[in-house]
Amino acid sequence: MKKLRIAVDGPASSGKSTVAKLVAKDLDLIYLDTGAMYRVATLVALQNKTGDVQKIISIISQNPISFKNSQNGQQVFLGEEEVTDVIRTNEVTNAVSKISAFPEIREFLVAEQQRIASNGRIIMDGRDIGTVVLPDAELKIFLIASVDERAERRYKENLAKGIPTNLEQLKVEISERDRKDSTREISPLKQAADAILCDSTGKTIKDVVTFIEEKVKELSEHR
Ligand code: DC
Repeated sequence: MKKLRIAVDGPASSGKSTVAKLVAKDLDLIYLDTGAMYRVATLVALQNKTGDVQKIISIISQNPISFKNSQNGQQVFLGEEEVTDVIRTNEVTNAVSKISAFPEIREFLVAEQQRIASNGRIIMDGRDIGTVVLPDAELKIFLIASVDERAERRYKENLAKGIPTNLEQLKVEISERDRKDSTREISPLKQAADAILCDSTGKTIKDVVTFIEEKVKELSEHR
């Protein structure tokens, strides 16, 4: 099987993970949610009430982050503990920008992500995949959508899960996370020079999946 590494970067709630999971299924690729790894590191900081990066790294080294595919989607583990839902709580979401800005945490998780990608057939979503983790990825997509549309998508998801949410507050939180993710010093959210921009505002999930798969096809025609 040919090497195919796809980097999908973009701001919070732009649909990266939904789209990447579907492409992974269609093209038989591993799917890696790198945001989940930063969320686990944040959970470790909160659970242990620590901002000591060496302590956070040491806890994760002893209790490695792993993923399992199940009928209900991908489950996330910290050692033996299942953390799939707890890493999506507001408490973790609101603290993740701070933890993911520590250079040592990023270095540690990036090395892990590169190790997983060495299998050669993977689609990864995040903020720095095309710029830092896989700078030589075969395909790079930068997925964006308007703040209003992203807030509405998240709002509907939360409603479906029974999580009480205020739409206007979501817009503020999303804009704030965009600002923090794009202005941090190390590996800010940035479109790689060779990434293809895809604006999903007004597009369906299927439209975006088709767009990416067309790009993969074009790639194989030129190889
Ligand atoms: O994709 P997400 O919203 O689950 O990501 C959670 C946070 O992790 C996001 O605010 C920024 C950070 N992140 C990062 O810094 N680098 C990545 N490759 C992925 C996520």
